[in-house]
Amino acid sequence: MSRILIGFTFAFSLLASAAQASTVLITGTNRGIGLELAKQYAEKGWDVIATARSPEKATELQALAKAQKKITVEKLDVTDVKAIEALAAKYKGKPVDVLINNAGTLGDVPKQTIGTLDQTEILNVLNANTVGALKVTEAFKANLAASQLKKAFAMTSGLGSSELTARRGGFYGYRMSKAALNIGFRALAADWKADGIMVGIIAPGMVETDLLRASSFPGKGISTQESVVGMMKVIDGMTLENNSKALNYDGQPIPW
Ligand SMILES: NC(=O)c1ccc[n+]([C@@H]2O[C@H](COP(=O)([O-])OP(=O)(O)OC[C@H]3O[C@@H](n4cnc5c(N)ncnc54)[C@H](OP(=O)(O)O)[C@@H]3O)[C@@H](O)[C@H]2O)c1
Repeated sequence: MSRILIGFTFAFSLLASAAQASTVLITGTNRGIGLELAKQYAEKGWDVIATARSPEKATELQALAKAQKKITVEKLDVTDVKAIEALAAKYKGKPVDVLINNAGTLGDVPKQTIGTLDQTEILNVLNANTVGALKVTEAFKANLAASQLKKAFAMTSGLGSSELTARRGGFYGYRMSKAALNIGFRALAADWKADGIMVGIIAPGMVETDLLRASSFPGKGISTQESVVGMMKVIDGMTLENNSKALNYDGQPIPW
C-alpha cells in the first residue's frame, strides 16, 4: 500500500513540475526582434518578463501583454545599473530559465565612421551593447541558477566577427561592442560552467528592423518572425557541452 502511495506522490510531483511554465527574461522588447521574441515565447506557453526602456511608449508591447497574460512588462534601461539591481531585487527568488540580452543599439553611424569618430557615441554604444548585457546577466545569476534550464544569451552580430570584418569596414563602435560582447560572454561561460549555468552567443541574421534600416544595408533582411523561430531552436539546442560557438539563427556558426 505504502509503495503505491509513494508511486502516486512521485508521479504527481513529476506532473506538477512538467506543468510549471518556464520563464524567459528578454531585454529591449518594445520593437523589432525583442518584441517578436516576447510574442513567440508567450505563444509557446512560457512566462515572459519583457523589459523596455519606456513601457509607457511601448504601445505594441502593451497591446500584446494585454491580449497575452503570460507577458509581464517591466521598465529597464540596460545602461542604468541601479535599475538593473532594482529589477533583480524585485524578482529575487524567481527562477529564470532563459535570459536573452536582446537590447542593443547601432548608434549614430557617422559618429562611428573614420574621419568623424565621436568618443562619447562609441562609449555609449559599448555601454548599452556590451556592459549593459553583462551587468543584466550578472544581476540575474541567482535566478538562472535556481531555474531548470539555466541559460543566458548574448545577441551578437556578424559585424562583431573579425573574419567577416575583413570584407567591409565601418560601424566602428557597434562592431567593437559586439566583438567585446562575444569575448565577455565567453569569459562568463567559463566562469559559470561549474555552476551549471550555460552562457551562449546567438545572432539573429540580417533582420528587417529599425536597426537594419538605419545601417543602410542594401538588401532586404529576413522577417523578425523567421529569425525568432530559428533562434528559439538554437536556444533549445544549446547545452553546457556544445556552447563554444556563436550560432546564427539558422544554426550555422558565426566565424570568430
Ligand atoms: N536587425 C538585425 O539585422 C540585427 C543583426 C545582428 C544583430 N542584431 C541585434 O539584435 C538585437 C535587436 O535588434 P533589432 O534589430 O530588433 O533592433 P531595434 O529594432 O533597433 O530594437 C532595439 C531594441 O533595443 C532597445 N534598446 C536600445 N538601447 C537600450 C538600452 N540602453 N536599454 C534598454 N533597451 C535598449 C530598443 O529600445 P528603444 O526603443 O527604447 O530604443 C529596442 O527595443 C540588438 O542587440 C542588435 O544588435 C540585429
